[in-house]
Amino acid sequence: MTTEELSEDYWNSFYAERDQVWSGEPNVVLVDEVSDLTPGHALDLGCGEGADAIWFAQQGWTVTGVDISSVALGRAAQHAQDAGVSDQIDWEQHELGQSFPSGSFDLVSVQFLHSKTELPRDAILRRAAGVVAAGGVLLIEGHMGFPPGEHNPHPDIHFPTPDEVISGLDLVEGEWETLVSRVHDRAQVMRDGELINRRDCTVKLGRR
Ligand SMILES: C[S@@+](CC[C@H](N)C(=O)[O-])C[C@H]1O[C@@H](n2cnc3c(N)ncnc32)[C@H](O)[C@@H]1O
Repeated sequence: MTTEELSEDYWNSFYAERDQVWSGEPNVVLVDEVSDLTPGHALDLGCGEGADAIWFAQQGWTVTGVDISSVALGRAAQHAQDAGVSDQIDWEQHELGQSFPSGSFDLVSVQFLHSKTELPRDAILRRAAGVVAAGGVLLIEGHMGFPPGEHNPHPDIHFPTPDEVISGLDLVEGEWETLVSRVHDRAQVMRDGELINRRDCTVKLGRR
């Protein structure tokens, strides 16, 4: 099996373990950071079960939602149909280290694109920056560590700081404006109902 097939297998099994993995609600920081943008064409990389993409569509965006997992994408498409927004969303399956959706986008959103399998995250984020249209926004939300009590299964999994995310993008100087670059805490309800604190980071960049 290739590393890409291993990743697809891992994520399909991850999703297939439960009927629904995520809450079905859009990510809180994303709602805060996107609500004041004028809707256009959005790209959601690692869209999972589609809650963010569906929320974008409900705000008037047309959306391309991308994930490696066909199981997650199947659920996302069903949820979009239930929400009456399927006409506004294209779902595409990509292993983003290998292939990428075509086009340019007014908003590229990357929410918690982390994996316990091999993931060329920096290269994917660079490519994500490359498809932001002039005047568009790149929004990257990431964890700063595993949840309390969960240990790093691979010591090489690194959670970058906002500065590391930005420097990894290799942006052309003068072409981008840093709108948000911060580490923050967020309350998260776990599947067993336990309330925990997650430390996350937000990077929001505007392309001039
Ligand atoms: C931690 S989940 C986050 C899901 C969603 N963005 C959210 O915030 O709820 C990471 C997502 O990235 C996807 N993913 C992981 N590696 C990927 C890759 N190489 N290419 C495309 N999607 C990938 C997974 O299938 C999963 O849906």
